[in-house]
Amino acid sequence: MSRDSWRIAVLPGDGIGPEVMRETVQSLERLAEHGALDLHLETFDWPSVAWHREHGELWPENWRERLAGFDAILLGALGDPGPRDDPDRYWLPDAVSLSPLLEIRKGFDQWTCERPAVLLEGAPQFLADERARDIDMLVIRENSEGEYVGQGGRLAPGAPAEVATQVEVFTRRGAERIIRHAFERARLRAGERRAGERRDRTFPLPGGGEAHAQVCLITKRNALRYWGELYSETFEAVAAEYPDIATHHELVDAACMKFVTSPWAFDVVVASNLQGDILTDLAAVLSGGMGVAPSCNINPSDRSQPPMFEPTHGSAPDIAGRNLAGPQAMLLTAAMMLDWMGEEDPRAAAAGQRLRAAVAADLAEHGTRVRPTDEIGASVRARLD
Ligand code: IPM
Ligand code: MN
Repeated sequence: MSRDSWRIAVLPGDGIGPEVMRETVQSLERLAEHGALDLHLETFDWPSVAWHREHGELWPENWRERLAGFDAILLGALGDPGPRDDPDRYWLPDAVSLSPLLEIRKGFDQWTCERPAVLLEGAPQFLADERARDIDMLVIRENSEGEYVGQGGRLAPGAPAEVATQVEVFTRRGAERIIRHAFERARLRAGERRAGERRDRTFPLPGGGEAHAQVCLITKRNALRYWGELYSETFEAVAAEYPDIATHHELVDAACMKFVTSPWAFDVVVASNLQGDILTDLAAVLSGGMGVAPSCNINPSDRSQPPMFEPTHGSAPDIAGRNLAGPQAMLLTAAMMLDWMGEEDPRAAAAGQRLRAAVAADLAEHGTRVRPTDEIGASVRARLD
C-alpha cells in the first residue's frame, strides 16, 4: 500500500548536527506548507553526548521501540569530544559516541548504504582534469555484515602476549541481496539515461553492443580470498540476469587509484562495509567534499523498517555552535529521503527534486565559500517558494 503521509523522527545529534538539522527541518516544513507533502516531524534530543552527560547513556534503553513506528529517521551527526584544552571535558571514545549509528543500521536491518557522487556546479573540484566534472557515481555499501559485525575481543588485555581478534563475516544471502540491489539501481540509472534525465554514458558489453549503466564489484580477493570469491561468484551469477548492464571488477587498492585518475569511468560501485566506507570518503571529495555529500541507510527488501538518512560528514566539533557549518550535505540527504518516500508518494518525489534543485542553484550562485549556516538555509528556502 502506498503512503501519502509521513512521520519522520528527527535526531539532530551532536556538534554541527543541530545547526544543519535546523535549516533542513525548516526547508522540509516549507515544502509541506506549500502543500508539496504531508509531513510530521518529531525531534528527539538523543542519541547525543549531552544526553549521556545527563543520563549516563546515549539514549533510552527502549530507543528501538521509540523509533520503530516512524516512517524514516533523519540524523544530523554524532560525537562531541568537548574542548581539547579542557582537562575536565566530558569525553567519550568515538566508538561509544558513534555507536548508535551502527545500532540503528543493525536494529532496522538497513542493509544498503547509498552514497551518490555527482559534482554539482559551484562545488569545489579537487581534480584538475576537466573530465572530473563528469563524475556520476553511486557507491553502494554493504551495511549489515562484513568487517562491521562487531565480533571479536581482546585476550589478556595489557599483557605483552595480548591478542585482539576482529572477525569479518560474509554471507551468501548478504552478498546476493546487495549485489542484486546494485544491478537494480544500475537498471534504473540506465533508464534515466535513455530518458534524458541523467547525462548519458555508455559501457561496452562483453558480447558486443553497449550498456547505459555498469556495476563494478570491489573486493580484495587477491589477499582476502574467501569472501572475495564468494562475492565474485555471486556477482557473476546475478549479472547473468542483467544482460543489459555492463560489469566490472576492481581490487580495492586499484579502485582507490582509479577513483582519482579516472572517476568518470565508474557508474554503480558495490563494496563491502569497510571498503565502501573508505571509498565513499574518497568519492565524497571527488564530488566536492564532505560538505555536499549525502548518504542513506535503507532496507530495500522491507520498506516497513524505517530507513536512516544521515550525511557522510561527522559532527565537526571544531566549528560547532558558530553558525559556520554548511547545511548542504544535510539538505541533499533530506532530498534523498524525499526520493525514497517518492517511490510511494509522487508529491514527495517532486518535493525531493525541488529541494535538490534549490540547493544546486544556491551552490551554483555562491559556491561553498563560508557563509552563515542560517543564511544558506534561508537562501535555499527562498528558492523553494
Ligand atoms: C560513516 C562513518 C561511520 C562508519 C562511523 C562514524 C562509525 O564513518 O557513516 O561513514 O564507519 O560507518
Ligand atoms: Mn565513513
